[in-house]
Amino acid sequence: MCGIVGYVGKKDAVPLLIEGLKRLEYRGYDSAGVAVVADRKLGVVKTVGRLSNLESQLLRQPLAGSVAVGHTRWATHGAPSEVNAHPHCDCDGRIAVVHNGIIENYHALRASLEAAGHTFYSQTDTEVLPHMIEAALRDGAACLGDAIRAALTQARGAYALGIVSADCPDVLYAARQGSPLIIGIGEDGDRFIASDVPAVLSRVREVIYLNDGEYAELRDGGVRIWNIKGDEISPKVERVTLSAEAADQSGFETYMLKEIHEQPRVLRRLLERNPLFGGGADFGLKPDYFRKLQRVMIVGCGTASHAGMYGRLLLEQYTGLAVEIDLASEFRYRDPRIDPGTLIIPVSQSGETADTLASVRLAKQWGCRVLAICNVPGSSLTRESDAVLFTEAGPEIGVASTKAYTAQQMAFALLAIWIGSIRGTLGDADVQSLLAELAQVPDAIHYVLDRKDLIRVIAHKHCDAPSALYLGRKFNYPTALEGALKNKEISYQHAEGYAAGEMKHGPIALINEYVPVICVCTKTRDEVYDKMISNMREVEARQGRIIALASDGDTQIVRFAQDVIFVPAVRDDFSPIVNVVALQLFAYYAAQARGTDIDKPRNLAKSVTVE
Ligand code: G6P
Repeated sequence: MCGIVGYVGKKDAVPLLIEGLKRLEYRGYDSAGVAVVADRKLGVVKTVGRLSNLESQLLRQPLAGSVAVGHTRWATHGAPSEVNAHPHCDCDGRIAVVHNGIIENYHALRASLEAAGHTFYSQTDTEVLPHMIEAALRDGAACLGDAIRAALTQARGAYALGIVSADCPDVLYAARQGSPLIIGIGEDGDRFIASDVPAVLSRVREVIYLNDGEYAELRDGGVRIWNIKGDEISPKVERVTLSAEAADQSGFETYMLKEIHEQPRVLRRLLERNPLFGGGADFGLKPDYFRKLQRVMIVGCGTASHAGMYGRLLLEQYTGLAVEIDLASEFRYRDPRIDPGTLIIPVSQSGETADTLASVRLAKQWGCRVLAICNVPGSSLTRESDAVLFTEAGPEIGVASTKAYTAQQMAFALLAIWIGSIRGTLGDADVQSLLAELAQVPDAIHYVLDRKDLIRVIAHKHCDAPSALYLGRKFNYPTALEGALKNKEISYQHAEGYAAGEMKHGPIALINEYVPVICVCTKTRDEVYDKMISNMREVEARQGRIIALASDGDTQIVRFAQDVIFVPAVRDDFSPIVNVVALQLFAYYAAQARGTDIDKPRNLAKSVTVE
């Protein structure tokens, strides 16, 4: 969703802002803008559409200065338009604010500001902020920092903010409540703010993670932080461990293709570095907690919820625990019977998804412990959880999640085996054999990647179909959901994932000679394999185009399918981690044939930080 970059230092700010905003493009946006302070004047340029439009406008209307904020907006309040794009200004055009999040009480705030004579131009919630700061200064706030604090004490909701003022030409202010914002410390006095670390990765090696309820003043060479009560806080500076290349495209035609190819390496590293086995399991919750545990509730959104569905199956099978999974956006409004003894497992790539965070906050109110599976160190989720199992997949830039998903699956596999070993539901020999078979997964994915040309041919053949159906059972039911989600996200082909056993309860009505039906029917000892074959026969009888995802060596499958994508046979429990890679490639090549913007699909945001 919205992206923020700000700069203060000695350099020309605009090229630095554009560079940072380009690195945030993956979050999804529909308009962009910058505000620059120079010679005690504020210059603002905003455009609708891609950043290239903003760059062109900046050639016609150049802004120079070394204190500035920039923004990419993903519309929530008010349509994508130049007037709704950020930055937003006060009445005199001297204060500019960029904002990520939602000011929930903006209606009331705007009404009272308008009654006091302030003029508004946009439909956004954000525009109240510069006016509130302006009002606080008029009411006698001693300095810009005090005025910002006064405004923030009245604002309810979520925000990450960047603020500059023509009257304070040397400073950049930042504030955070519920939306991510980091401060980057660069060379030669350079100070940045950004929505995430990759935005400024090539410029900073040290960061400060601003906490909720804090605001900061950045100057050339300096940073000071206060809480909302006005108490100064000493900043905790952390070294950035990511390499600058981690956020580069490395010669691939898209980030998504790069990230698909990174999966064997990511999973190998996760297996090697996992803190559960060998590492002493000191990751926040002690083994004894898991011995006494009765119940687990997994929550997540989108792709992460599919990883959670897979995780539930593994946890049930290896640990004997009662495990539930829900979409975070549903869970937070249900009235579930959750007691303090329930372990909550939120799953999230970004660690910033609003519904997932809200679910965690609720669960904490109920006294539950929280074990997050998350990819982004320093994210809100990791800071609010009792324990974190990091997926260590590195920055994921493509909007459609790939390597973060398989890393979440692998993290669940490790966690389930580990909890099973602690609870004694798995013996030593079981644990050793499961870990040995899990260790084969990265190589199996390599083989899938080696077959991408064949997958491309099959994807191109079926990409014009109006709709596609994905079927799977048990461990591969989530694979079917995730395969369909990938397809619709990036190729815009209508696609539905279904539990194959449900096909006769509705989707079978859709089947005709134009509809590709992707059947995930890999097997080693799988008890649902024969059922999948029966479902395929039913599709065949209705002239559906069957594309089977089958295990190497399955000689009978070609009799039932028009096209077969073969993948290496791995243990059924772990087959979803391999199978999904074939479906990622299938969706990728369908999207390529349909000419979509694969890394930045329309309307989607990488990180959904509002409800
Ligand atoms: C968005 C992204 C998805 C992602 C979902 C949850 O919809 O486009 O790829 O699965 O949010 O995000 P999270 O960061 O919590 O995993």
